[in-house]
Amino acid sequence: MLDHKSIRKYTKQEPTDETVKTIVRAGQQAPFASQYYSILLSRNRKRNPWNAPLLFTICVDSHKFELIMKERGWKIKTNDTTILFFGIQDAALMAENMVIAGRSLGLGGCFLGSAMYRAVKIAEEYKLPLRVFPLVQLTMGYPDEDPPPRPRYPFEFTLFEDKYPDLTKTTVEKAMKTMDEGYLAQDYYRKARYMIPLEGGRKETFTYDNYSWTEHICRKWGQWYPEPTELLAQLRKRGFHITKTDKSTQH
Ligand SMILES: Cc1cc2nc3c(=O)[nH]c(=O)nc-3n(C[C@H](O)[C@H](O)[C@H](O)COP(=O)(O)O)c2cc1C
Repeated sequence: MLDHKSIRKYTKQEPTDETVKTIVRAGQQAPFASQYYSILLSRNRKRNPWNAPLLFTICVDSHKFELIMKERGWKIKTNDTTILFFGIQDAALMAENMVIAGRSLGLGGCFLGSAMYRAVKIAEEYKLPLRVFPLVQLTMGYPDEDPPPRPRYPFEFTLFEDKYPDLTKTTVEKAMKTMDEGYLAQDYYRKARYMIPLEGGRKETFTYDNYSWTEHICRKWGQWYPEPTELLAQLRKRGFHITKTDKSTQH
């Protein structure tokens, strides 16, 4: 696990059914609040991102449990914000277990965060019932690359024992330096040929010599998705309602 790296290039080798089953079974064995997930699989290499042999779509699934409730003569009363928080935890624990199990069998993979914004499209493709929401996708296959492990924050910027500390400018700068120098040492963004463009007519002042992780993530969260509208629309169309003013479809 300390050697984890996302894999975006795969050999031609196809994982066997048994391998797929072991990965998903290991995912299922993750702790759960209520197994609020389902996993979709596509083996359509031609269409899968990076031509991966496997594309899993990890969904938060309320539909399945509502069928169980129906059998028992119950209706769901819990609000969808709570349902989604628990569902996302269940699904995320399952998903990472799959990554770890895959790696132990020689496979690598990479998550794709765009799924939740393409939820309606994915739902059409897999004929999902309402109340099933594609949360994240995971490509998997046998690695055809071996990148170095990516940097992480310093340990003391992550684990706070007994009390959350005052994060001084020096501590923050050290964390930024660890991340930025780590990514620059790997020439990560130059190799990926990817810099998030500055919006609003702001002039680019960075080059691949100094563009690194903290600038990259600042450009994401400093420019994208100021309103939840797009995501809420996808959720609503999938039967989930998380704003105060929405009337639940469930009761
Ligand atoms: C929720 C989530 C969404 C992600 N989405 C993408 C993505 O859309 N494209 C991509 O190339 N990597 C994606 N990743 C992978 C991250 O970029 C990667 O985990 C991170 O850069 C750290 O690198 P490492 O996994 O190699 O340690 C995603 C990871 C997570 C957990």
